[in-house]
Amino acid sequence: MNVLLGASLVAAQGSFHEWHPAGPNDVRAPCPMLNTLANHKFLPHDGKSISQEIVTHALGSALNISAELSEFLFSQAITTSPEPNATTFSLHDLGRHNILEHDASLSRADYYFGQDPYTFNKTVFAETRSYWHGPIIDLEMAAASRLARVRTSNATNPTYTLSPLGSGFSVGETAAYILILGDRVRGTVRKDLVEYLFENERLPVKMGWKTPKTVVASDDLFGLMDRIVNVTGLASSDARALLSRSDLHVGRAAV
Ligand code: HEM
Ligand SMILES: *[C@@H]1O[C@H](CO)[C@@H](O)[C@H](O)[C@H]1NC(C)=O
Ligand SMILES: *[C@@H]1O[C@H](CO)[C@@H](O)[C@H](O)[C@H]1NC(C)=O
Ligand SMILES: *[C@@H]1O[C@H](CO)[C@@H](O)[C@H](O)[C@H]1NC(C)=O
Ligand SMILES: *[C@@H]1O[C@H](CO)[C@@H](O)[C@H](O)[C@H]1NC(C)=O
Ligand SMILES: *[C@@H]1O[C@H](CO)[C@@H](O)[C@H](O)[C@H]1NC(C)=O
Ligand SMILES: [Mg+2]
Repeated sequence: MNVLLGASLVAAQGSFHEWHPAGPNDVRAPCPMLNTLANHKFLPHDGKSISQEIVTHALGSALNISAELSEFLFSQAITTSPEPNATTFSLHDLGRHNILEHDASLSRADYYFGQDPYTFNKTVFAETRSYWHGPIIDLEMAAASRLARVRTSNATNPTYTLSPLGSGFSVGETAAYILILGDRVRGTVRKDLVEYLFENERLPVKMGWKTPKTVVASDDLFGLMDRIVNVTGLASSDARALLSRSDLHVGRAAV
């Protein structure tokens, strides 16, 4: 589809200042950022019928994510649609268990505990944030909190599983909040911004957050993921599983 035509089909334009939580007919994802973008209408507020053009426009205009990274993320998202040959997905599709949605999330309970991997869970997030000492989250703290969730899930959930793709997403999600809210060179992020995003599903604009001034591309994401795995200090077999970004690259090549 040509770019101009694509852009003309993008209804949702978004606002950094307007914000409305989901209403009764709106669907949401297990992803705090996509929910946030829907609440700000960068994505359709009902969370439905999200095309590649919509994703690229929303992630580009709100977060300065490159078209190439957006297309890759869309190619992953579309695999969650139950429709054959779908060209759109809904935020609800993203929560179908063990496609992209995985155990050991930072702020959602495992599917096993309540069949609800969508909703923010205060108890789960309390464990995650207990590793964030001080006002700045660094790579070590971010990696330690993610690993703690993996260990807790493994120890408490008899159905615990984390595929290579799930591991890749898990590491990628930790990289993503640093990349979008923080300093990708230092590998640090203000804790108050991260907590605000998770707890409110709202962009932390009034706290001084701004759209990244330089474009966020897949190399930025994969580079930060490597650094997170590096400081996680896993045994080599675990590290290999976590580094199975080959799944992700296969997805990317398929775009
Ligand atoms: C089209 C783009 C995106 C898709 C398809 C997507 C998909 C997902 C999915 C399926 C999950 C649930 C995984 C789980 O925890 O079980 C998730 C979680 C997450 N996403 Fe996104 N996401 C996208 C963009 C982003 C962006 C731009 C950010 C930037 C901050 C982000 C940050 C996160 C974080 C931090 C989590 C972890 C939540 C938790 O562990 O509780 N995502 N995403
Ligand atoms: C989906 O696409 C495949 C390959 O192009 C085609 O053979 C199949 O008929 C399509 N299915 C539907 C339900 O449209
Ligand atoms: C939150 O997660 C905990 C731990 O997995 C679980 O025991 C609890 O039932 C969840 N709370 C809600 C409200 O779902
Ligand atoms: C869970 O922990 C056990 C014991 O440490 C380990 O053998 C197993 O590989 C872990 N499971 C997963 C899916 O990582
Ligand atoms: C994204 O970053 C580029 C520089 O890499 C900059 O020129 C552009 O203005 C930024 N876009 C947005 C929406 O902030
Ligand atoms: C990971 O750690 C190794 C050994 O310390 C180092 O050589 C490598 O450059 C690191 N990679 C990244 C991406 O930080
Ligand atoms: Mg999950």
